[in-house]
Order: sequence, then C-alpha cells, then structure tokens
Amino acid sequence: MQKTLMIIKPDAVAAHHVGDIIARVEKEGFTLTGLRMLQLSRQQAELFYAVHKERPFFPGLIHYITSGPVVVGRLERDNAVELWRRVIGATDPKRAEPGTIRSQFGTDIETNAVHGSDSPQNGEIETAFFFD
Ligand code: RTP
Ligand code: MG
Repeated sequence: MQKTLMIIKPDAVAAHHVGDIIARVEKEGFTLTGLRMLQLSRQQAELFYAVHKERPFFPGLIHYITSGPVVVGRLERDNAVELWRRVIGATDPKRAEPGTIRSQFGTDIETNAVHGSDSPQNGEIETAFFFD
C-alpha cells in the first residue's frame, strides 16, 4: 500500500477544520494508519522543509508552520500520493479546483490548510519523520 503524509496546518487547526478534513480522508478511501497532534520546533520545521531552504518564502513558511499545533497523519491506499494531492488541490487556494480542501479551507499560497507528500519516495521519508 502506498503512503503519503498529511499535515493539517496551524491555520486549519485554529479554524476548527480538523474533523472535516479527517472525515474527507476517510471518504476518499484512505486508511489512516497514524495520527498525532504536535507543535513543530523551528529545528524540526527547517529539517522537514529543507528542500525549500534557498527559496524566498522559507522564513515565512517556517514561522507559519511553527505558529501553532498541527495534526499529522499517515494515509495509505493505492496511488495515495497522487490521489491526496488531487484531493487537496493546488498550492495556491485561489487556483485550487472547487471542492478541493485548499479551495474550501485555505487562505493564500502560504496559509493553505494542508500538506501532501509530492512523490511515493517522499511519502515514505515524510511518514517515517513522524511515525515508527
Ligand atoms: P506542501 O508541500 O505543503 O504540500 O505544499 P506544495 O507541495 O503544494 O507546495 P511547495 O512548493 O512544496 O511549498 C511548501 C509550502 O510552502 C508555502 N509556500 N509559500 N509564499 C509562497 O510563494 C509560497 N510558496 C509555497 C506553502 O505553505 C506551501 O504549501
Ligand atoms: Mg511540497
């Protein structure tokens, strides 16, 4: 079974969308095999988003993702990575297809409610970052 990492980001947790997002996970046929609430330290966030270290938005991203609690989940099903990215929609909620999670609950290109792994290999790496 393929794995992908979901993060319900601080804005969506603060806005009380955790239940709706987890309901969507199950409705889309993913099996939730791990779930935790935590607040990322600056060090953890910099490690998790290390690929974006040189990008201009990196400082803002680290500030945002560490600004409050997040919910991390390990989602499993066939083709989990591609399907979850389809369910969450484009990075910028304004460009995300209607009905996607980012279109429903995101605010702007940074404050976009949820994360999804971008390849099966990163799905393995990112789920191992949070789960045994
Ligand atoms: P994610 O990794 O969170 O699932 O998002 P993604 O693949 O759709 O987008 P990615 O390019 O990996 O960017 C990671 C996160 O950085 C923030 N971001 N801000 N201000 C900006 O231009 C900008 N671009 C990206 C977003 O929070 C994005 O999800
Ligand atoms: Mg990404």
